[in-house]
Amino acid sequence: MPAHVAIIMDGNGRWAKSKGLPRQLGHAKGVEAARRAVRFAREAGIGYLTLYAFSCENWRRPEDEISELLGLLRHFIASDVKELHSQNVRVRIIGETTNLTPDLLTLLENAQILTATNTGLTLVIAFNYGARQELVHATKVLAQRVASGEISIEDLSEAHISQSLYTSDIPDPDMIIRTSGEQRISNFLLWQSAYSELVYLDVLWPDFQANDFQSAIDLFNLRERRFGGI
Ligand code: FPP
Repeated sequence: MPAHVAIIMDGNGRWAKSKGLPRQLGHAKGVEAARRAVRFAREAGIGYLTLYAFSCENWRRPEDEISELLGLLRHFIASDVKELHSQNVRVRIIGETTNLTPDLLTLLENAQILTATNTGLTLVIAFNYGARQELVHATKVLAQRVASGEISIEDLSEAHISQSLYTSDIPDPDMIIRTSGEQRISNFLLWQSAYSELVYLDVLWPDFQANDFQSAIDLFNLRERRFGGI
């Protein structure tokens, strides 16, 4: 089993379009698929599952779709967190905190506090997340530490960068799954994915089932990971 699986949940809009339904319904079905993925990860004993729920670039979408997506996430956190807690799931949120309303930030913070000491699956929700924005944030943190004399420029290392990312306490993903047939990384975990196996599935996210998750793991297990060695 990969220790950390990250998923780019793509294809909600196309799923809805193919059925003549509004895009919003595709996203609602996408939440159900996310719940199935969490259940699979728990039962399979995967340590970390990261879901790309909302990217910094998603703010470019029409206002009604943005509010639908934010509403779905808010509802997911508010309604599912107790159950996740009872299942020993630890919830972590990664992403920018700018642009988010104080009540949403409080909701996200409370979900993390409630589940902080759980020892089962860590569910990482990438929300208002962009890898380039994360790297800018890390650069500012490190620039400050250099400016204050805490670290010298010569001593700056990969470890310093890893430790300054939102994922400082999360191992790099072993596998990144993207659904819908698109083959792109789209500003997701750029630093952390240096040695991730990329698995692209032809299924639209709302149709994603346990057997699709299992197929991705089967593909992962066929890969030979050399990390630059031979
Ligand atoms: C991509 O489909 C999906 C998103 C931009 C949002 C993903 C969000 C969810 C599945 C719901 C919230 C998740 C959680 C964890 C509760 P798209 O709209 O880009 O589809 P398209 O490319 O077919 O238009």
